[in-house]
Order: sequence, then C-alpha cells, then structure tokens
Amino acid sequence: MEEKILDGKALADKLNLALQKDISQVVEKTGIKPKLVTILIGEDPASKVYLNMKKRTCAFVGIESEILELDDHLSKEKIIEEINKLNTNDKVHGILLQLPLPKSQSPNTLKYIENLSPEKDVDGLTPVNKGKLYDYNETLAPCTPTGIITLLEYYNIDLKGKEVVIINRSNLVGKPLIFMMLKRNATISVCHTSTINIESHMRRADILVVAVRHPNFITKEKIKDGAIIIDVGINRVNGKLCGDVNFDDIYEKSGKITPSPGGIGPLTVHFLLHNTFTAYKKQLNYS
Ligand SMILES: NC(=O)c1ccc[n+]([C@@H]2O[C@H](COP(=O)([O-])OP(=O)(O)OC[C@H]3O[C@@H](n4cnc5c(N)ncnc54)[C@H](OP(=O)(O)O)[C@@H]3O)[C@@H](O)[C@H]2O)c1
Repeated sequence: MEEKILDGKALADKLNLALQKDISQVVEKTGIKPKLVTILIGEDPASKVYLNMKKRTCAFVGIESEILELDDHLSKEKIIEEINKLNTNDKVHGILLQLPLPKSQSPNTLKYIENLSPEKDVDGLTPVNKGKLYDYNETLAPCTPTGIITLLEYYNIDLKGKEVVIINRSNLVGKPLIFMMLKRNATISVCHTSTINIESHMRRADILVVAVRHPNFITKEKIKDGAIIIDVGINRVNGKLCGDVNFDDIYEKSGKITPSPGGIGPLTVHFLLHNTFTAYKKQLNYS
C-alpha cells in the first residue's frame, strides 16, 4: 500500500544533513560561521521550547545561534535600536523576530518587522521580501509555507489544477502560501473566521491546509474522500502537543496526511536555517 503519512520529520532530518554538509564546505573556504539571532520579547514559555529546539538544530547544521531576550516593558524606540544594532553587525547573518509578541508589544509587530534588514530577514516578513514573493521570487520566503510546499513536492504531489483550501490568513502561514500555491498553478480558497459555510469549502478541497489553533477542528465528515490534509496547527492539550486535525478519525478517509507534531514543524525549523545560510552566502558574496 502507498505510504499515507507525509513524514515532515524524516524529510527535515534528511535536509538538515545535506545542509550540514553544504555549510561545512563553505565555512571551510570562508572561515566564517553563519550566525542567526532570534529576538525574544518578553517571557513566553512556549516560545522558549521552540527556541531551544531551533538552537539544537542550529548546532547540528553548523550555524551559530543566539537568543536576544528583551524585556517587554522596553519602549518601541529602544527595541528598534536593538534591531538596528543587529542589522549593522556583520557577524550576524540572519535575524528572526519570535512571534507572536506579548500583548503589550503586539501593536508594534509590523513596525519592528519593517525595521529588519531585508537581507537578514530569514522569515521573509519584511515588505521587500513580501513584495518579491508577490512576483514569485522565493529567495527568502516564510519558512512554514516553504516547508509545506517542499513536503508536497517531495511526495510528488502536483499542485497544478488542484482545489486548495487554506484555513488561515496570517502573514506567517496563509498569505504567503497563496503566492506559492498560485505559482504552482493551484486554485486557491482562503477561509477565516468570517467565512460563511466553511464546511462547504473544506469538503471541496483536494488539498486542505489548516492552521487555526483549535484541536480537532477537522474531522472526517468535513473532508472529501482522498483529500490531502496538511495540519500546521500546534496546540498543547493536557501537556501533550497536537495539531488542528483529529488524526485518528480522519486517517482512513484522507488520501495523505501530515502528523502534528512531526509534520510541518521540523520543516519550518529547517527552512529557517536554510534561509540563514542563503542570507549568509549573499552577505559574503559567496556564489
Ligand atoms: N508547524 C509550524 O511550524 C507552525 C508555524 C507557524 C504557526 N504554527 C501554528 O499554526 C497555527 C496558526 O498560527 P498563526 O500564527 O497563523 O495564527 P493566527 O495568526 O492566530 O491565525 C489563525 C488563523 O486561523 C483562522 N481561524 C481561527 N479560528 C477559526 C475558525 N473557527 N474558523 C475559521 N478560521 C479560523 C483565523 O482567522 P481570522 O484571520 O479571521 O482571525 C486566522 O486566519 C498555530 O497553532 C501555530 O502554533 C505552526
């Protein structure tokens, strides 16, 4: 029987190994290690768990990583000053602003992103990199959608002519994914909290991407027979991680399905490091 699970973890392990090899070859020539700095504003235990995972993977592939912890009481001007220091520090090649920001700082999210150097913007969120994506240039594209596309391509799932339904319209997931899917000739619907009769959209999907922050949001009566299900959600229920899809309920009816955890998460981390290496090579004029 054909494999049903879209194994993001196994693919990410493979890609990380290849990245490790590429980085060590380049570092041997340049004598300079790529460096990623993550800005963490405020105390968020969930973010710290992700950051430790990213730190371990950075060490594995040969990227130096640092977490810049900033107090959430700092003024907007002071935080922008810290961002600018990283922008002009030539030892830093990638900068990631850990999102979401704490409530007191969240109105400043776009302002901080606008101040990141587009050359170091490894999650592709600055206006410059968003604009490039609009023109189908994916050089520094957001990591989660890049992970989704890479997983589909690895399993030879052709997007051309497919009905794709994305339940999410955030800057991190849904919006960039629209351009990546359009580039590959899919027909796309984007659903959100104001969508009327969302079930009718879900049942039409050949490929359903869900990232809503609700465990068990997708159950078998909501999908079409053989639909490909991409579960981006990461939720914590009674101390255990789970996605937005009721995996056991939906498994038989789906055509292919990602687990969560172990699906898109490890690919997101991989592409953060991949983008850091891309940014590093560009900054060092290495071709
Ligand atoms: N696997 C990974 O690496 C990875 C990476 C990034 C995010 N995530 C996970 O993905 C999820 C989403 O992240 P995000 O940053 O994009 O979150 P977000 O900004 O909160 O976006 C959630 C989206 O879901 C929509 N939504 C929520 N409830 C809905 C409902 N009942 N019906 C229809 N649409 C609904 C929202 O609609 P509105 O726009 O109308 O509010 C919004 O567009 C989270 O669980 C996050 O942890 C995982």
